[in-house]
Amino acid sequence: MRHFTNVKDLGDLKQAVKEALEVKANRYGYSHLGKNKTMMLIFFNSSLRTRLSTQKAAMNLGMNTMVLDINQGAWKLETERGVIMDGDKPEHLFEAVPVMGCYCDIIGVRSFATFENKENDYNEKILNQFIELSGRPVVSMEAATGHPLQSFADLITIEEYKKKERPKVVLTWAPHPRALPQAVPNSFADFMNETDYDFVITHPKGYELDPKFVRNAVVEYDQKKAFEGADFIYAKNWSAYADPNYGQILSKDRAWTVDTEHMEWTNNAYFMHCLPVRRNMIVSDDVIESPQSIVIPEAANREISAQVVLKRILESL
Ligand code: CP
Repeated sequence: MRHFTNVKDLGDLKQAVKEALEVKANRYGYSHLGKNKTMMLIFFNSSLRTRLSTQKAAMNLGMNTMVLDINQGAWKLETERGVIMDGDKPEHLFEAVPVMGCYCDIIGVRSFATFENKENDYNEKILNQFIELSGRPVVSMEAATGHPLQSFADLITIEEYKKKERPKVVLTWAPHPRALPQAVPNSFADFMNETDYDFVITHPKGYELDPKFVRNAVVEYDQKKAFEGADFIYAKNWSAYADPNYGQILSKDRAWTVDTEHMEWTNNAYFMHCLPVRRNMIVSDDVIESPQSIVIPEAANREISAQVVLKRILESL
């Protein structure tokens, strides 16, 4: 593997999950791979899980790690060519990225959608500039339109918990006070569409995701109908994708908050969320604290998804 930016980079998903379970059972068994290699983690946005799990995965593989928060201690970066740099950004990405590449062997990048320019967001402008300019393998640690390390961890978790070969998995929109990107639901749909699960997406009208990610998934606007018979409920907020409302909040309807009554509509489903989660907006206290909530093992699998990806990149260096 050279870069990791979406589900396709993993190849055969069944094989990837098998490898993940092997790595999980023997996470220090590959520490020779990263000897004298350095992983650099670049954050344009905040993180708890991605920062810690990716560092841990790199350390499990014997790598050194360096973490840079662009907005705390680094020079602010200009990203557009042709700009007269007389403002508050003293450095251009065009110099900064190749310099970063000089100091490491693999780069992880977190750079969310800005909602300023849909074309730039959906062309993954920042992530692709790292791929073009760093000269290093690049791992998406959540980019503008996808969060594949998260979705790979989600898939591993579903495979560990599922009680039938083809579980019903429901991705449900839930309310949130801020406008959030579509990266997590996009990637989750991308991964689920590569499985043979019964996959359903439910959201209020106006929250349709990019058809490129939805593909043949069933979209059900009636949340109750969608939840019926579900084995896994994956809750997430996202802002509108479709024009002219790109990046906007269209609803904060708390009837969509996943509470005990919602979970009673399901087949005793497991509850999932990528975290961080706003309690009593996305999910009620009762549901996230219930035995059916698997948000912690899901987060724990972030270490494993990152380790499989880094292992494969190291093996190909
Ligand atoms: N799920 C996830 O990516 O968490 P962080 O934003 O804390 O990294």
